[in-house]
Amino acid sequence: MIGVGDMVLLEPLTEDSFLENLKKRFDHNEIYTYIGSVVISLNPYRSLPIYTPDKVEEYRNRNFYELSPHIYALADEAYRSLRDQDKDQCILITGESGAGKTEASKLVMSYVAAVCGKGQEVNKVKEQLLQSNPVLEAFGNAKTVRNDNSSRFGKYMDIEFDFKGDPLGGVISNYLLEKSRVVKQPRGERNFHIFYQLLSGAPDDTLKKLKLERDFSKYNYLSLDSATVSGLDDAANFRTVRNAMQIVGFMEDEMQSVLELVAAVLKLGNIEFKPESRCNGMDESRIKDKNDLKEMCELLGTEQSVLERAFSYRTVEAKMEKVSTTLNVAQAQAKTRHKVMGVLDIYGFEIFEDNSFEQFIINYCNEKLQQIFIELTLREEQEEYIREGIEWTNIEYFNNAVICDLIENNQNGILAMLDEECLRPGTVTDETFLDKLNTICADHQHFESRLSKNSKFLNDHSLPHNCFRIQHYAGKVLYRVEGFVDKNNDLLYRDLSQAMYKANHSLIKQLFPEGNPAKVNLKRPPTAGFQFKASVGTLMSNLQSKNPNYIRCIKPNDKKASHVFNGSLVCHQARYLGLMENVRVRRAGYAFRQAYEPCLERYKMLCKNTWPHWKGRARQGVEVLMTDLQVPAEEFSYCRSKIFIRNPRTLFFLEEKRKQCLEDLATLIQKIYKGWKCRSHFLLLKKSQVVVASWYRRYAQQKKYQKIKHATTMVQSYTRGWQARKLLRELKYQKKCEEAVTTIAAFWHGTQVRREYRKFFRANAGKKIYNFTIQRIMQKYFLGLKSKLPSMSPIDKTWPARPYSFLDGVHAELRRIFHLWRCKKYRSRFTEEKKAVYEEKLEASELFKDKKALYPSSVRQPFKGDYLEISKNPKYQKLSSAVDEKILLADVVNKINRANGKGSSRLFLLTKKNVVLADQKTGQLKANVPLTDLASVSTSTQTDGFFALKLKEGSASAVKGDFLLSSDHLIEIITKLHRIGSMAADREKLNIDISDEFLVQFKQDKVCVKFIQGSPKNGNSVSCKRKNNRLLEVSVPASS
Ligand SMILES: Nc1ncnc2c1ncn2[C@@H]1O[C@H](COP(=O)(O)OP(=O)(O)O)[C@@H](O)[C@H]1O
Ligand SMILES: [Mg+2]
Repeated sequence: MIGVGDMVLLEPLTEDSFLENLKKRFDHNEIYTYIGSVVISLNPYRSLPIYTPDKVEEYRNRNFYELSPHIYALADEAYRSLRDQDKDQCILITGESGAGKTEASKLVMSYVAAVCGKGQEVNKVKEQLLQSNPVLEAFGNAKTVRNDNSSRFGKYMDIEFDFKGDPLGGVISNYLLEKSRVVKQPRGERNFHIFYQLLSGAPDDTLKKLKLERDFSKYNYLSLDSATVSGLDDAANFRTVRNAMQIVGFMEDEMQSVLELVAAVLKLGNIEFKPESRCNGMDESRIKDKNDLKEMCELLGTEQSVLERAFSYRTVEAKMEKVSTTLNVAQAQAKTRHKVMGVLDIYGFEIFEDNSFEQFIINYCNEKLQQIFIELTLREEQEEYIREGIEWTNIEYFNNAVICDLIENNQNGILAMLDEECLRPGTVTDETFLDKLNTICADHQHFESRLSKNSKFLNDHSLPHNCFRIQHYAGKVLYRVEGFVDKNNDLLYRDLSQAMYKANHSLIKQLFPEGNPAKVNLKRPPTAGFQFKASVGTLMSNLQSKNPNYIRCIKPNDKKASHVFNGSLVCHQARYLGLMENVRVRRAGYAFRQAYEPCLERYKMLCKNTWPHWKGRARQGVEVLMTDLQVPAEEFSYCRSKIFIRNPRTLFFLEEKRKQCLEDLATLIQKIYKGWKCRSHFLLLKKSQVVVASWYRRYAQQKKYQKIKHATTMVQSYTRGWQARKLLRELKYQKKCEEAVTTIAAFWHGTQVRREYRKFFRANAGKKIYNFTIQRIMQKYFLGLKSKLPSMSPIDKTWPARPYSFLDGVHAELRRIFHLWRCKKYRSRFTEEKKAVYEEKLEASELFKDKKALYPSSVRQPFKGDYLEISKNPKYQKLSSAVDEKILLADVVNKINRANGKGSSRLFLLTKKNVVLADQKTGQLKANVPLTDLASVSTSTQTDGFFALKLKEGSASAVKGDFLLSSDHLIEIITKLHRIGSMAADREKLNIDISDEFLVQFKQDKVCVKFIQGSPKNGNSVSCKRKNNRLLEVSVPASS
């Protein structure tokens, strides 16, 4: 614990040590300190990590003094006594502007929300309670020189709980919004946040709908020098506010109406008036630029003319005040009684350069709160001492009741006089009001004015003429009277309220109920001061009916700076807040008191008799405890329900002992726990060891067993092998013996048989064996041959090899027979035509084979016979009709001319009876030679196609002479000629003469045709040349 957490325990108690303690704690981020149950809170001006959910858990359901001081401890205490003891609570948060009151109220609310019950409905309520803050702050907070987020209204929130402590809802009352801020803000301050938030954060289309522009400079009401505040994100806050409004329960159209109203106020600020003289000499005000008015009327749904008339008819002031929008006006209290926790966060005491009616009211309210603090603290103490039967001596402190009286006294209080002035007929000004004050309050100790009756302040130049000064409990404040009367009157001329009531806008209608023509009320409405006084009065009595919890906020410096502790400033606040007196009051009597039960509960471990349980009554237990601890009797006294402890030292002693005892207990618990832990660990280890060992043993034994088993098997197998081999040897021997016996027996039998049969064997056996062997060999040979026979093709020359040379002749004969047989088989498959063709070919072979060199090339050529198809050719129609026999051969041949040896083409036709020669082109018949006239045919031995048809001398055809022809189908032509001749029975065979020189009869002469091997220069062609009259030489290329 840094310093002393509770000032009551501070020793020695002086102002210096008090401040020293605060500073020490502040420097160590301990911003909270107790005075008994009062929490002093120093504004850290930076976020500290002490509001986390973990912290909430830490403080939840713990005793107030158990943990280091915290606002959560106070909230927890309040919430628990509300829930468990059914005592209504109020949390009073006081302090100067910027000291952290609003933050504190939010912390309290969030703590309560965090610890109270859960559930869908409850969470919704909690969320609504928490989200009411951003909405209220947007419309009620503004940046001031003291505080960037200063509350410009007082707020009192009653949170209602059911019997279980679950929140049911809340009622928020607000007090006197600083309306004048809408119209005018002091230097360095801003208007209410909502204006800036709307312009920076609303989407473009929303702004367009509201006829607004994003530029602050377009609006007279938005002060420009401090329009933006560092660390304040207006745009983001706008979204937060919208969201919060939704959660709190604003409908979409309601939100829209509110924003329209805000926009209308901005527009209103831009309307300017100019004076104008009328013909009747009266002055009148006229609106300069009507555009803003028009837009405003569109927003609010009013008629422009109505509003314009209302503005100008009674010319009162250039700029109109905003009418406060009351948010969540207190609803009628529920009928069934609920537990209530009130949180009061009201504007703090304020001293500005220029203080007006608002500051006066604010400071009056703070006076009242200080009053209630003094009263309740003292009364509570006093009553408690009396209740408990203790004698009480009064403690000196400054009672600010005189100041309250100065302000609120019904006869001559300042507020009463202000009201009187306002109601007085005749000209009333702020000056007449000040005059009145000067006469009536002149004697008051706390009132100062330049012109007070006795003029005792005439020489005080810090006091201007139109001002008065009040010595508040928290300091002197100079008030300027200007505007007091108007603001107190807070009058809205009926024309205006009626004009507004006529608007076609539900929210506006609701805000100006007095404009309803049906309810015209001629009575003056109560003044602002009167209303405020009354509401403060109600608030005070409300607070008094509840159990108070105090949070006293202190500002550590004036610069909103973190880590700066301004001793004199804190000292000033501590003084006027009466903190020292508070401590003294707590200490003068008894510094501490505690009911017997919790006391016994807390300290029972300090005595053997009470630990761990005391069976008797709590008071007796505490008595036993105190006696046992030997606390001097004057240090405490036993009262009715509580024990009172006079000196903090005694409490320290008890706490110290308890701490020691707790440490011992902790050690004991630790010791037992450690012992238990070690032992259980050991037991576990032991158990594991046994398991491991048993497993290992099992494993080892298994291994050993397997080894033995293996060895045994081995030995066994060797032995068995040895035995088996032995047996085998014996068996083998036995078998051999048996075999030997059989062999011997066989031989013996054989010898006997041979001896007996020798004589028969010698006579026949040799021949028989020979025959048998030969038979066997032949059988084998034929069977082998049968399986190895070659194919049936006549040209297949293969034949299996003979196995024995003595079979040579047989083998060759068999081969011949087989060949003949397969040839026969082959032939038997021929048709008649094919047979004729082969016969022809055979004849050609007989005629020319090895005789003429041309022959081999003809073997492959089939004998087609008719190469020309005369009958089908129309050209030769005549010719074919002339030849009446069947044409056996038709071809083109060359008829060799005797004169030059050159040839000319002729058709050559052969029938059974004739040879016909005809012109190739015309088909004209040239010669028709009956075959009977043919004597012979001559041809060479060479490869040429020359042949001569020699005619019988004396025949009819012989007249023209022989024919020397050449043909590509020489072999075929001659063969066919020969064949016809051989087939006809009546004719003799045609002679074929093959030689390289023969004679040809040309008419009269015989010419010799000689064939020679041509020289290579003649190429491959056959050429015929006339050598002389009697010789034609045919040169034939050498056959290769
Ligand atoms: N507990 C706190 N932790 C951090 N900052 C704080 C705390 N209390 C106050 N502040 C800072 O001080 C400023 C003023 O506090 P606020 O509660 O608005 O003052 P008040 O309501 O008393 O005028 C806050 O805006 C915040 O920046
Ligand atoms: Mg505030």
